[in-house]
Amino acid sequence: MKILYINACVRKESRTNKLAKYLLEKLNGNIKEINLDKENIKPIDSKLLKLRDELILNKNYSDDLFKYANDLKESDIVVIASPYWDLSFSSLLKIYFENINVVGLTFSYDDMGKPISLCHIKKLYYVTTAGGYIMNDEFGFGYVKTMFNTFFNVKDIEYIKAEGLDIYGNNVDIIMNNAKIDIDNLFK
Ligand SMILES: Cc1cc2nc3c(=O)[nH]c(=O)nc-3n(C[C@H](O)[C@H](O)[C@H](O)COP(=O)(O)O)c2cc1C
Repeated sequence: MKILYINACVRKESRTNKLAKYLLEKLNGNIKEINLDKENIKPIDSKLLKLRDELILNKNYSDDLFKYANDLKESDIVVIASPYWDLSFSSLLKIYFENINVVGLTFSYDDMGKPISLCHIKKLYYVTTAGGYIMNDEFGFGYVKTMFNTFFNVKDIEYIKAEGLDIYGNNVDIIMNNAKIDIDNLFK
């Protein structure tokens, strides 16, 4: 099993990363971590879009611009970890998504315009932690779930979250341990 860990956590002591690492210990396979904070990952601006369109037109998918998409294409299991930021996830993760959705490489379209996956991802885990409470799952997890389901045909998707970590008086250790129990339960 090839496991791809997309780490969109930026704090050194990130609790989201800690939970994701706890989960990763339970998975069997070769783990490749992409730490987005350490990557020089770029949003698709006019210059990159032009280059990207040319590469796609020429089916030149081995270009470095598609390295994240190629990693995803080889993966069996994907683990995404991002803190809950501004009711959603970090912008680094959104930039990563721009880089993996490559028509002709990671997905295509059928005659009716419906996306068809060109990946073979079997399972996705989405891990997040929030300082307060997650108001609407659809802005973070829901978006990621729909994207992986729509473009990569992933149906088996797990959501792991710990909330209320920055609320004064809350016991962070208990909240984190409960999230770890949730992870344990996934493997029973
Ligand atoms: C830029 C930023 C935006 C945040 N936005 C929210 C938010 O909208 N709602 C919330 O409950 N917590 C918010 N938080 C708090 C984080 O969700 C919380 O501290 C989280 O546990 C951080 O994860 P980490 O320990 O993995 O870094 C925000 C924190 C930062 C730094």
